[in-house]
Amino acid sequence: MQRPTLITSGRGEDRGDIPERSYEKIRRILKAMTGLRLADYKRSCVKRRIAVRMRAVGCETAEEYVEFLLTERAEPAMLAKKLTIHVSKFFRNPSTFAKLKDVVLPALFSRCRLEGRRNISLWSMGCAAGEEPYTLAMVLRDFFAQELSLYNVSIHGTDIDRDILQLADAAVYGAESLDETPPEMRERHFFCTEGKYHLDPRVREMVSFAHHDLLRLPCKDATDLILCRNVLIYFERTAQESVLTSFAGALREGGFLVLGKTETMMGGARALFRPVCQIERIYRKA
Ligand SMILES: C[S@@+](CC[C@H](N)C(=O)[O-])C[C@H]1O[C@@H](n2cnc3c(N)ncnc32)[C@H](O)[C@@H]1O
Repeated sequence: MQRPTLITSGRGEDRGDIPERSYEKIRRILKAMTGLRLADYKRSCVKRRIAVRMRAVGCETAEEYVEFLLTERAEPAMLAKKLTIHVSKFFRNPSTFAKLKDVVLPALFSRCRLEGRRNISLWSMGCAAGEEPYTLAMVLRDFFAQELSLYNVSIHGTDIDRDILQLADAAVYGAESLDETPPEMRERHFFCTEGKYHLDPRVREMVSFAHHDLLRLPCKDATDLILCRNVLIYFERTAQESVLTSFAGALREGGFLVLGKTETMMGGARALFRPVCQIERIYRKA
């Protein structure tokens, strides 16, 4: 498509300084075309990403980009994708997975034992290409084999981006996704061909993936553990608070919540959780 030629403003839009009127238009187009609610995401961060996308498609002003969004059918979905960051790794922050192994999972299994319950539900929200829920599955296979034979452990991975979920299902990764994975785990759970790491199907089948927008859809209840790491950081404070509150509703009594290393409990949600390990951002439903 031939884009309209507009006068270049040079107003700093390339640095993310998008005028409010244009930003409002972009916000409405994205909501209508993709369902993504920009209002809940940190504005400065979103604006910077829009500016990067504008540059990539050769638009010089925000209004030119609004026009592009309206006329290029695939662009709203493409922009939505660029606004959600998918960086992840297996064993991202290994010390967090060590705490899960040594403290959280044993506590969950012993609670199940006391309650005479057989089902345990673990949920990774904003799971990107599956690195996080698969890491949990590997830890369970390697250290909780007996518990796996006694309990029905379900691990869900959900994300707002349907394409990334397809990659999660395929479970094939580049070497950079494994650079925090202990060598023996890498040996045990992956096979490498032509530079790509394929996850062992026995680990793959322990995790189910589904689309879920945690800003719009209720979290299903009776969950024992929620991992929501490096997702809230992109949300505005009010959205963070309401998501944290909804986690308390979704967790069972005594259930655990793990946030990212730079995220924290805030506002009214503080009364709903007690810290278990501040450094690893692990909380337990109060
Ligand atoms: C930076 S990745 C974090 C991946 C993983 N949790 C980790 O810590 O390595 C953030 C993920 O959150 C997802 N995301 C962003 N907004 C979301 C929303 N409203 N609902 C569900 N997932 C969302 C993105 O698509 C992306 O895959």
